[in-house]
Amino acid sequence: MRLDKFLASQNFGTRKEVQKLIKSGQVTIDGEPAKKPDKKVNLEENKVAVKGKEITYTEHIYIVMNKPKGYISASEDKKEKTVIDLVPEEWKRKNLFPAGRLDKDTTGLMIITDDGDFAHRMLSPKKHVDKRYLAELDGEVTESMVEAFKNGIEFYDGTLCLSATLIPDKKTKNIAQVIIREGKYHQVKKMFLTQGLTVKNLKRLQIGSFVLPKELAEGNCRPMSEAEIEAVFL
Ligand code: URA
Repeated sequence: MRLDKFLASQNFGTRKEVQKLIKSGQVTIDGEPAKKPDKKVNLEENKVAVKGKEITYTEHIYIVMNKPKGYISASEDKKEKTVIDLVPEEWKRKNLFPAGRLDKDTTGLMIITDDGDFAHRMLSPKKHVDKRYLAELDGEVTESMVEAFKNGIEFYDGTLCLSATLIPDKKTKNIAQVIIREGKYHQVKKMFLTQGLTVKNLKRLQIGSFVLPKELAEGNCRPMSEAEIEAVFL
């Protein structure tokens, strides 16, 4: 791969910016300053460094975020703050987007990536990746609601949902966990509405076998490990 293309793909700037960086002598290949932006690098053999720091090539980036309230799930917006605004510069890439939407007032587990295939696999109901939520409601969750969720909720407009699991909290009657494998617009809120309940707070806890890391405070994010990426599909 050309050196300038490689550096741009690893978020060192636009093609023009990285060409400038190369010409400034701050980029080395195997310890030697690189002079030409079109110099070919072999990613398996050559060690490329910028300002003395070696770059490890990754095709895509996967970031786990504990989404706070007040941010929308979009890559950019003219008026609203987006989840991408919370990603520190060092992990920003050109085509970053949130894999699956959470409402502006929903918190919790969100994956941000530049890998469209990954997002498709995670979101397609056919791939059976469960999403688990914690909901706080304005009333009691009953056994008949558990049955209704299991049988598949029908929205007021006739839309049918797949079978879902509703697990009432043992101690607090207005708290429950919900497991769904699709992502219809406002799905969890609308499912409860058909049962006469309003969701007061909603937090996503888990996607597949990947649980929101405990140490990740609201508003924070970090790149995922390979094991964490795999856990999404387990
Ligand atoms: N269901 C909702 O209603 N809102 C979300 O943000 C996610 C699932």
